[in-house]
Formats: sequence, C-alpha cells, structure tokens
Amino acid sequence: MRIKVLTIFPEMLRAALSESIVGRALEKGLFEVELIDIRAYSQNKHKNTDDYPFGGGAGMVMLAQPIVDACAANAEAGQRRIYLSPRGRTLTQGVVEELSRETEIMLLCGHYEGVDERALEMCFPEELSIGDYVLTGGELAALVVIDAVSRLIPGVLGSSQSADDESFTTGLLEYPQYTRPRDFRGREVPEVLVNGNHALINRWRREQALKITRQRRPELLETAPLDEKDRAFLRALEEE
Ligand code: ADE
Repeated sequence: MRIKVLTIFPEMLRAALSESIVGRALEKGLFEVELIDIRAYSQNKHKNTDDYPFGGGAGMVMLAQPIVDACAANAEAGQRRIYLSPRGRTLTQGVVEELSRETEIMLLCGHYEGVDERALEMCFPEELSIGDYVLTGGELAALVVIDAVSRLIPGVLGSSQSADDESFTTGLLEYPQYTRPRDFRGREVPEVLVNGNHALINRWRREQALKITRQRRPELLETAPLDEKDRAFLRALEEE
C-alpha cells in the first residue's frame, strides 16, 4: 500500500514517521508514505498557498490551484482521496480496516479556516475526521490514519503483537496486563495469571474485558459478539 500526503508541513510528518513500529515498517518496505509539499505546486510568485476568504471573516483559506495541481501530478488509477477535516465521517477501527485494504490513498491536510471548496469538489470526494475536536491542521490527523492503518498491514506488527486480541477488534475494551515483578510495592499480580492454566487465564481476561467495558463503555456491549458464558457473567454482575 502507498499513502501520499499533501501538506504544507512535510517535515512535521517526516519526524513522526521515522520512529518506532511505523518507522521500521517503512524501512522494511512493508508500505510506503510519500510526502508531497503543496507549496512546491504554487504558481503564485511568492509561493503562497492561502488567501483571504470571499465574503470576509476570520482566517485564511487554502488556495485551490496548488492543491488541485499537486493532486493531479500525483494521481493514480484507483487512488482513494481523503480530505482530513472535522466535517468528515468519524474514523473508527472499521474505517481503518476498510482503508487497510486499499492499494493507494491520498490524504489532504488542511490549514487555516479551510480549503477552497472547489479543490475538494475537483479532487477530494471524501472527508474523514479523527474526532469531535478541532486541530490546527490535518497533519496530526494524517499521522493517526497512517499509524492505525499501518498496524493492520501484514508484517508490520510482530506475531507477538497481534492485532486480533485488542479493543475494537473483539468489540470490548482490553483486559488489564501485568509484568514483573509479581509484587510491586505491595501490589500483587492476580494469582490466576501466574498459575499457568491457560483456559482459566483466558476466561479471567475475557471477564475482565467484559467488566471494564460494562463500566466505561456499556454501549459497546450492544454490538460486541458475546456468547452464552459472557451473558451469564454480565447477568451475575447486574445482580451484585
Ligand atoms: N483537521 C482539523 N481538525 C481535524 C479533525 N478533528 N479530524 C481531522 N482533521 C482535522
């Protein structure tokens, strides 16, 4: 998979993409990210990428010309084009899974008070938000999308870091984890985890996940796949 990012701050992404799991995956060629500097496509003599809004109002609006030309110069057949914006459909693990099946995605990072609507009409039919809050620009949102998508690409996570077992894949929040020492300042690791009975450990983890989900995000229980044992456990919690 290749992800192209149109931005006026390519260095902001470059730093974040060089580290950790995503950095290693890019180095190994498991997927590609191409950072495209919108300013390089500006036909304006000062290489401006924004101007005052028609109709007045606060802030600046990103010019259509550099965005449309940057997009055209980097277009590919079958490319999925997405403008990152708080107006968009909200990103969920389901959307991440859908994006991870694409072969090429182009992300547009906006700034200022927005992007000339004509650039969106001409090049970016889809908008995606990472949540109901407003960032100063789309770069951090692009990084969120790239990070979440990359970890579903085969080989990016080691087999020991499988993505199958976690929140929003099981539909439940995750159970608590512990590592050494067994006793940390008087707080002991739950006995069941050190006894080596894997059936009991799996049941305990499942029940912890159900309990935490019921406390913090009860609405997830309406859609999570639950079996009869899970339902019996939840009924027992109700009776407590
Ligand atoms: N740009 C500014 N705020 C954003 C958000 N919440 N999601 C995606 N892009 C954005």
